[in-house]
Amino acid sequence: MNPTKPQLCLFILSGEHETLPEAELCAVLEAEDYAFTIHNRHHRILLLRVDPEGAKIATQRAGLVNHANIVAFESPANEETILHFMKKTKFEQWLKPQSRFGVKITRVKREPNPIDVDELQGKLGSQIWNAMNGSVEVDLVTPDVLFLGVIVGNLFFFGPHLASRDRIGFFQRRSPLRPFFVPSAINPKIARVMVNLSRAAPSDRFLDPFCGTGGLLIEAADIGCFPIGFDIDISILAGCRKNLNHYGFHFNGIIADARVPPIRSKKVKAIATDPPYGRSSSTKGSAVVNLIEKTLTAIAEIIEPKGYLCLALPLEYFKEEIIPTDSFEIVEMHTMRIHRSLQRHIVVLQKKE
Ligand SMILES: C[S@@+](CC[C@H](N)C(=O)[O-])C[C@H]1O[C@@H](n2cnc3c(N)ncnc32)[C@H](O)[C@@H]1O
Repeated sequence: MNPTKPQLCLFILSGEHETLPEAELCAVLEAEDYAFTIHNRHHRILLLRVDPEGAKIATQRAGLVNHANIVAFESPANEETILHFMKKTKFEQWLKPQSRFGVKITRVKREPNPIDVDELQGKLGSQIWNAMNGSVEVDLVTPDVLFLGVIVGNLFFFGPHLASRDRIGFFQRRSPLRPFFVPSAINPKIARVMVNLSRAAPSDRFLDPFCGTGGLLIEAADIGCFPIGFDIDISILAGCRKNLNHYGFHFNGIIADARVPPIRSKKVKAIATDPPYGRSSSTKGSAVVNLIEKTLTAIAEIIEPKGYLCLALPLEYFKEEIIPTDSFEIVEMHTMRIHRSLQRHIVVLQKKE
């Protein structure tokens, strides 16, 4: 476990899914070895007691966490009380003389609130400048410290910003921008969430036994894992290699049937996979349920005890009987709508000891 100095930290979660953003954040903190406790939830806001360094790393790594900041104070969302709490805050713990700072206020719930955000930003900025006796400078473009105010309904949270999601990275890794593309390729944000749910940590051996064009492997490599991929189709595996190399990642790809893994020892730490189900990617003639059942049984032999596996499956193919429960425990399950005719379960399993 990392040495930890927990503080109250606020996370603005993505509104793209009801349960996955919080599950992903908790899984990343676990993978990166940061202890945390859940303090509270308000709409898309999650409050955790956690080391700010862990909060920063988790937000930079996550697909569905938009921002994180330290909570200097929490107050009812009215100007008078906010200004009262501002006076009691010791800004010198984050600012030094000559520091450049900015203040930004955001609303996460579209509810009427009489606060004039632009006016309040100016007032809070002046208070900080006064509290530091004019020794600091306002810089809204490249501040050393950005103070973020978050209005959620009738509550207001304020404190120094720690990190934001890597929007540019996810944009640059979109599947149509890669050298090799097929329509069944997984979206990078969802791939990242699945890698994170597998609790993979930097330098772990990460496996996708149905790797296709490498969507999950690229995300695993991007967080510093050693990516291993199996695919039964030689041309797809060649395309997968091109994609990983395109982003500068080393790739250990093997032409193999996932039901007969060409690895013997229990050296794989984390697995995430998006198996074929015969719509946009071929199962090569196998019945989907049978293919998954056999793959899970085989994979149980190569994943480390206590290692995690994250699996995406259309609802119609998920039955608890396909999980070899003598080898795996079901840890969590989320349902996700991909489009009108496709809903998937994202299932997380843990290998028993
Ligand atoms: C849904 S796609 C994977 C998509 C991948 N996540 C991506 O981002 O491109 C499933 C892949 O499984 C491969 N496949 C089908 N049957 C297989 C088997 N028995 N063993 C290994 N790979 C198989 C297919 O060739 C296909 O590339």
